[in-house]
This record gives sequence, C-alpha cells and structure tokens, in this order.
Amino acid sequence: MIIAIDGPAASGKGTLAKKLAVHFGLRHLDTGLIYRAVAAALLDAGRPANDREGAIAAARTLDPSRFDETSLKRYEVGEAASVVSAIPEVRAALFDFQQEFAAAPPGAVLDGRDIGTVICPDAEVKIFVTATPEERARRRTLELKGRGERPDEQAVLKDILARDERDRSRAAAPLVQAADAHLLDTTHLDIDAAFRAAVAIVEAARAS
Ligand code: DC
Repeated sequence: MIIAIDGPAASGKGTLAKKLAVHFGLRHLDTGLIYRAVAAALLDAGRPANDREGAIAAARTLDPSRFDETSLKRYEVGEAASVVSAIPEVRAALFDFQQEFAAAPPGAVLDGRDIGTVICPDAEVKIFVTATPEERARRRTLELKGRGERPDEQAVLKDILARDERDRSRAAAPLVQAADAHLLDTTHLDIDAAFRAAVAIVEAARAS
C-alpha cells in the first residue's frame, strides 16, 4: 500500500505520515528532507539558494543515506528548500529515488507537496492535510522554540504565507490537492484527533 500525504508547511503532515507508517507497518519518506538537503548543500558551501547550477549539481549527487535530520530541519534551510524545489531539473534529479522508495515492499507513506499528483499518482490513499496559516504559524513557532530557536510568531506567519505562495504558484509540480485526495483540515484537531481521522480515511479507502 502507498499512502500519499501532501500539504503546506507546518500543516502537521510529517507527524501524521510518521504515525501512519508505524500504524500500518509501512516505510516512511519525508520528501521535504530531500529538497532541504539540496538547499543545505548550497548554504553550507556559502552559496545563495537561487544558485541554479549549484542546486542542480547538488540534487544529482545527493546521498539520502547521509541526511542529518536535525540540521536539515533548521528554519533557513526550509526557506531555501522552497526556492531550490522550484527548479525543474532539481525535481527531475530526485524523481526516481522517491518513486523507487514508494514501490519497494511492503509499501510506504510519503509526505510532501506533489506526492499524490506527480510522484505517486496511483497511490491507494491520498490525504491533503491543511490548517489555517495562523494555526500553522503557531505550531511552527512552538516547534522552533522547542529546538532552542527564538522565533517571532508574526515573522513566522509572514514567511509561511510567502512559502505557500511560492510552493503553490511555481510551474513545476506546484502544491495542489489531487482530485482524488481526501481533505483533512487539522486547524481544530490535536495530533491524536488528526491521526484518528487519517486512520479512518485509510481504512475507508482500503475497504472500498
Ligand atoms: O515539508 P518541508 O517544509 O520540509 O519542505 C521544504 C520545502 O521543500 C517546501 O517549501 C517545498 C519543497 N518540497 C517540494 O517542493 N516537494 C516536496 N515533495 C516536498 C517539499
């Protein structure tokens, strides 16, 4: 079984995807980490996020077995990932890895922006996770504080709105709900309630 989870930044899709994978005995891939790794390769080399050739070269030589998730989750890396992920050649270089990961038994949960639309258009279950920008900014601020950063919630909200706009309006694989995806609005749901709702969606899809 392949479960495709898409949604905007800080919608809770990553937490949900992890929990669903454990619950259903599937592998999990946070595809945002791949784009973050490309961005981090640029930033760590002192290059700007809009260095197109550098981003393409980094994507083509990426080694996902060497990801340091803590470092990739840094705020500035997420912002830069949104920039490099708009480059079609970067997306093309990362396509096979994601598809092969999804296809390997016993199946997988992938979360990202284009899983249900581009990477796994035939996934058995597709969930589009969303929440209001204000709620997402609140969650992201809490998460960053938990990592020892000192974010300003209004600035986080501004960045979330800008990132939404960039991820939705790019020409290559924009963030969009697949026609056959189930919408899960987590604005008023805590993690457990969102997880129960997602499990119900998966069970219903499997039964039908
Ligand atoms: O989910 P995230 O915040 O870790 O993702 C970081 C950026 O990577 C996001 O702003 C857009 C890009 N991304 C993408 O374009 N396609 C994906 N499947 C996953 C992430």
